[in-house]
Amino acid sequence: MAEGATGRKPLISGNWKMHNNHFEAIQLVQTLSYALSDDDYAVVDVSVHPPFTDIRSVQTVLDADRIPMLLGAQHCHFEEKGAFTGEVAPAMLAKLNVKLVIAGHSERRELFGETDEMVNAKVKAIIRNSMTPILCVGETLTEREAGQAETKVTGQVRAGLAGVTKAAVGAMVIAYEPIWAIGTGKTATPEDAQAMCAHVRAAVREVSGPDAAASVRIQYGGSVKAANAAELLTQPDIDGALVGGASLEAENFARIAQYRLH
Ligand code: PGA
Repeated sequence: MAEGATGRKPLISGNWKMHNNHFEAIQLVQTLSYALSDDDYAVVDVSVHPPFTDIRSVQTVLDADRIPMLLGAQHCHFEEKGAFTGEVAPAMLAKLNVKLVIAGHSERRELFGETDEMVNAKVKAIIRNSMTPILCVGETLTEREAGQAETKVTGQVRAGLAGVTKAAVGAMVIAYEPIWAIGTGKTATPEDAQAMCAHVRAAVREVSGPDAAASVRIQYGGSVKAANAAELLTQPDIDGALVGGASLEAENFARIAQYRLH
C-alpha cells in the first residue's frame, strides 16, 4: 500500500515530553519555523507537542507568525470536567487550537498506569472534541523476544479503537513505538518497522474495514533522528514519525521533516 497511492500525507510529530519551560518552548518553535518552508509544509504535516504549561505560549507564536505547524498535546483526561485534580479536559485543549493529542504513550501506560480502557476512553473524548488522537502502541523487549510483539500490538489497536466509528478511525493517527527503542538510541530496522506498521494496518482493517485502514496514518516512533529518518519514512506503511529526543533540537527535527531531501 504505497503512500502516494492513497494520499496519506506524512505527519512528523515532536513529543517534547517533560522538557522546556514556556520561554524555551517559544524559542524552539521559532527556530524550527525558520528551518522549515512552505515547500516542506506542502508535503508533510508537522506537529509539536509541548507540556501543558507551554501550549498557550506556543499557540500565540504560531498564530502571530502564521506558522502552519500543528499544535499538539501529550495527554488529556477523558472526562469533560469534574473533580480530577491535576488533569486537563479535552475541551480546554481544543479551545487553545490544539489539533492532535497523544493517547496511550508507553510512558503514560507504564509509569502512570493507563490501561487500554482508559486509552480507549481518551481516544473517544479527543474525537468528540474535534481533535485527532495519536494512539500509541508497542511491545516491550521481553514481549518481542518471546515472539509476542504482533499479539500485543493487535490487542492494543483493538482495545484503543473499540466503539470508534470507521470514519473517525480513518482520520486518526496510530504511532507504532516499540518500547525498547524509545529514548535508547536503538531503532527498529526499516524492515522490522515496516512489517510492524503493516501489521498495525492489518489490525485496523480487521476492526474498522478497508477504507479506514487505507487512510489511517501510521507513524513509527523510537529513536528517530535525522540520520535514520529517510530509511524509515520511505517504507510504504510508515506515514510519519513520532519523535522524542531529536524533536528538542530544531535543526535535527527540521531535517527529519525534510527527510525527502537527505
Ligand atoms: P525518542 O522518543 O524519539 O526519544 O525515542 C519517542 C517517543 O517516546 O515518542
